[in-house]
This record gives sequence, C-alpha cells and structure tokens, in this order.
Amino acid sequence: MSEDHAVNSVATIELLRRDSQKILKGVLTGDPEKDRRNVSTLLATINAVSSNLDDAEITKNLVDMIVSLTEADRGILLLRDAEGDLEVTVARGLGGVDLEGEVTYSRSVAAKVTSSGRSVCIVDSLSGEYPRLGESVHELQLRTVMCAPLLMSDNLIGVMYVDSRLAREGFTGADLTVFEALCKQVAISLTNIRLKRASVRAEASSEAKSLFLANMSHELRTPMNAVVGVTALLLDEDLTPQQRELVEIIRSSADSLMALVSDILDVSKIEAGHLDMVSVDFDLRDVLEDVTDQLSLRALEKGLELVCPVELDVPVLLRGDAGRLRQVISNLVENAVKFTSQGEVSIWVSCDERDEDRATLRFAVTDTGIGIPDDHLETIFCTFSQVDPSHSRRHGGAGLGLPIAKHLVELMGGEMGANSVLGKGSSFWFTLPLLTQPGCALPVEPALTKLEGKSALVVDASVMNRVWLSTLMESWGCGCEEAEDPEQAMARLRRAATR
Ligand SMILES: Nc1ncnc2c1ncn2[C@@H]1O[C@H](COP(=O)(O)OP(=O)(O)O)[C@@H](O)[C@H]1O
Ligand SMILES: [Mg+2]
Repeated sequence: MSEDHAVNSVATIELLRRDSQKILKGVLTGDPEKDRRNVSTLLATINAVSSNLDDAEITKNLVDMIVSLTEADRGILLLRDAEGDLEVTVARGLGGVDLEGEVTYSRSVAAKVTSSGRSVCIVDSLSGEYPRLGESVHELQLRTVMCAPLLMSDNLIGVMYVDSRLAREGFTGADLTVFEALCKQVAISLTNIRLKRASVRAEASSEAKSLFLANMSHELRTPMNAVVGVTALLLDEDLTPQQRELVEIIRSSADSLMALVSDILDVSKIEAGHLDMVSVDFDLRDVLEDVTDQLSLRALEKGLELVCPVELDVPVLLRGDAGRLRQVISNLVENAVKFTSQGEVSIWVSCDERDEDRATLRFAVTDTGIGIPDDHLETIFCTFSQVDPSHSRRHGGAGLGLPIAKHLVELMGGEMGANSVLGKGSSFWFTLPLLTQPGCALPVEPALTKLEGKSALVVDASVMNRVWLSTLMESWGCGCEEAEDPEQAMARLRRAATR
C-alpha cells in the first residue's frame, strides 16, 4: 500500500465519521428494505476504504460508526472466546473515545441474543415491554438498548451492543433497521480479518515446514552416504553367500531410502522456492546414455526393450542444467519400466523449434505398460498421488517423482504432460527450451545420396525401432517396408521378388 493511499483512507474515514449522520440522512428513504440496502452499500464502501488500515482500527471505526448512526451513548463489540464466553473486544463512547476500565453492559440482553440468535431492541426499559429484561436494563440506569448477533457462516461469533442512559430518547424502528444492517457489515469485516490472519499463519507455517524438511533431509543424507559407501566396500570383501545376501539387502534398502530422501529434499526446496538451476555445456547424447546405462539392466531383467531415438535435426551440443534434465528423463523412464511388464520403453527426442543460439527440444517417454485411467491423468502430477498405492509396496516409490519432474521442467521454462490408454501404455512428454553451444552449427544434412530411390526392409521386434529406422531410411530417400519377425520378413521379401 502506498503511503498516500493510507493517508487518503484515514481522511475519508474521518470525514465519514464526522458527517455520517448527514450522509445517512441522504441515503435513508423510509422504505425499510431500500434503507437496509443503502446502508449496506455505504458500509461496504467504508469497509473497502478501511482495507488499508490495521484490523484494530477497522473494528474501532465500525463501532464508532454504529454509535454515531444510531445516536447511542456507547457501542460495545463482544466476541466469543475459546470457551464460547462473550468478551468485551471494543468499547467506545460518544465522539469515538475508548471506554476505560471494566465496562458494564446488560448481560441479560446479550445472553438473550446469544441464545436466540435474534436481535433485541428495548425501546424504553420502563415501558414493561420486556418485563424482566427491561428491569435489568433499568437497574444499570439505562433507558434503551439494541443488541444484534454477529454471524460468520451461521456460527455466532459474538454480538454488537449499543445503549443510552435514562435521560436519552429510546431507539426507533428505523434505528434498529440501520443497526442490523451495520451489524451484518461488522460480521463481514470480522470474517475478512480472521481469514486474512489465518492465511498469513498458514503461509508462515507452510514455509517453516518446507525449511524444516529441507534442513532435515540434508542432515539425513550425510549418514546415509556413509551407509551406502561402506556397504559398497563391504561387498568387495570375501563374504559367505549368506553374508552377501544380507549386505545386498542393506544396499538396496539404503538406495531406496537415499532416493526418497533426495526426493523429499527436492520437494521441500521447490516449495520453499530454494531450487537453483545451473547452466553448463553438455552433450545430450551423454545425458541419454547415462539414463539408459542406469536403467537398461532393470529393463533387461523384465525382458523389455529400451530404445532411444534422437531425430536427425536435434542439436546435441547444448547449454543448460544437464543434471536436472537427466533427473527428469530418468524419473519418467523409471516409471515406464516399473509399470510395464512386456513390450518396450522408448525415449524419443525431437526438435520443435530452432534458431541461431537456442532450440526447443521435445522428449517423449513412451511405454507399452498398464496405462493410466483418464480420471487420474491430471492428479498424478500432484505430490503423493499414485493410481494404485499397492504398487508402491511392490515396486517402491512415494508418488514424488512426477510432481518433481514437472516442477523441474517448468522451472527450466518447459511444459510437461501425459497421454495414456488404459491397458495399452502411456506417453509422458515434455518440452525444454535450451541454449545451443556457440559454434554448434545447424547439422549438415548427411550426404547419403547412394541410398536414394532404393527399397529397404526394416526387421525388428520393437515397434519404436521400426518406426525410427523407417523414418531415417525415408529421410535418406529410401522406400521402406517393415516386418516384426523373420517369417513376416521372408513373406515381404518373396512378395517383393515376384513384383
Ligand atoms: N508410465 C506409467 N504407466 C502407468 N502409470 C504411471 C506411469 N508413470 C506414472 N504412473 C502413475 O503415476 C503415479 C505417480 O508416479 P510418480 O510420481 O513417479 O510416483 P511413484 O513412481 O513413486 O509411484 C504412479 O504411482 C503411477 O500410478
Ligand atoms: Mg516414479
């Protein structure tokens, strides 16, 4: 908020306070419904202007406004404490002065409003209209009292109370209309103030949590590194088969724990906004090789084909955060291998856009696995979201991989999404704008003119490999056919020979 704005607000409030009766006369028409609306509009305006003041100022202003508009002697705002008892929160007298010392007010009237949830107006404590309440009000030397409930989404959070001494006139029906409208506005203001405080508290506590997590997971990694390192040394020793088996268990548990701790560290860093990216020169082929080296064994054990076609026009000498790129790709490939029991996993890299010194690359990790139901496709990018939590017991994982990957890609300026057909497979893709290394000229078209016009037959069990090889052959000017096994290949060859 600018200082000018604050000064302006204070001046406006001051003006409204001084001239409120005149202003109110202007908005009152005599029609109760219209008057209620007009007063609400007036109060909403005051509220909007007050939004730049602190909370205590706003409530004091509202109470002053009520005292002034109803021509009461005093106005008291009573709010419920944790036990549900009413407590005097603001008590103001004529001309906007704070009432000092213990404030007495008609507790019976306040209790009646609290229990019934309806407002009470005692026009004259001596008239006998409310025999018992009137008497108790008269004992306090008061003639007239109005009290209305303050409701926050149907919950009574307190009451607003105004009164005047015996020497004064009683409140009228018009006063009650105005009073009730004002009280509604007070309740709205209080709701806003509480929401604002709650959101400030929530933000502070979420930040504290992220910071705690970031520190904790950092501390956890140090001893874990020792466990992982020493276990590796132990495995180099002469161990009996039984000892080896036990140490292997320690190693694989330590590895999963390390991975989990690293993921938690990443999530907390992302949430706390403390994740910094680096920019280094790298070769895309090294990154892809690292990922396939790391995961090909696991794919092989499951009998899966792992292929990595990179289209010809993709620049490979790049500048960016190679470590984070590797992390994103390996997260996706790890999932693809984990959720596929037969078939293949491919990492297809293409180039969406390219100019002198930058390129937008597209990576697609596609599998022939279990697929993802449509209604889960959006939520799998949320932290701790898993389609089938029983998988995590079987395969490990806590549902942090995808949200981290998506965040990393977005931090690097790209986008991530997924397509899937249940039971057929999934494809996770992301785009990434990267700098190309200076001097990394546009790739020269390979001069393979010798192949132009020739026919080729691509034989491979992997669809991805076939598609990839055919694309390559076609780019070299070959006509291309595909076969997935030797029988099919022979049939194609025979057919070609008789043509
Ligand atoms: N390639 C995939 N095929 C099928 N389901 C997937 C695939 N990748 C991710 N999922 C679903 O998304 C969930 C979240 O993935 P992720 O965030 O990496 O967590 P985790 O691997 O720890 O379960 C997985 O538990 C799984 O239900
Ligand atoms: Mg995962």
